[in-house]
Amino acid sequence: MQKTWFLMIIGIGLGACVQSREPSADLPDSKRLFAENCVACHGRKGQGDGKMAQHLFMPPPDLTALSANNGGVFPRNYVVSTMDGFARGEHFSGAMPEFGDKLKGRMVIMQTGEGVGTPTPAPLVALADYLESIQIK
Ligand code: HEC
Repeated sequence: MQKTWFLMIIGIGLGACVQSREPSADLPDSKRLFAENCVACHGRKGQGDGKMAQHLFMPPPDLTALSANNGGVFPRNYVVSTMDGFARGEHFSGAMPEFGDKLKGRMVIMQTGEGVGTPTPAPLVALADYLESIQIK
């Protein structure tokens, strides 16, 4: 009996952690996250002209052109794994730090394909949403 209760509590706890992603799901303030973690290199508008940019051995790319460089489709999975540091390609220079450890938090389900959702830390989802919102047409 005690064991059942224990499992139920764990279940409820997990359920609360992995919330499904409603449009109203309150994500952390993405503008602030971007300002605190990305602007130094990528610039206030994400165009690659941050203060630190000139000191890097690799220029930070223009983050407003991610969709344009990807046939008009926002490369959400690529963006999240680049921030996270997970599954970065061999070509990636390492001039950008990995944020997987720093930007942890509540997990939310992020749509990563047709009907496919992946539990992703809320700060990374918020930043991906933010980047998607600043794409040039
Ligand atoms: C220390 C400087 C620095 C910081 C801080 C930084 N980046 Fe980067 N970022 C880079 C550099 C340099 C590259 C290109 C690296 C390469 O291609 O080898 C890059 C690449 C990227 C790319 C891939 C762009 C493309 O066109 O392929 C994305 C997406 C990105 N950064 C997002 C972010 C986000 C979001 C943040 C904040 C959470 C951030 N970066 C913080 C320097 C930085």
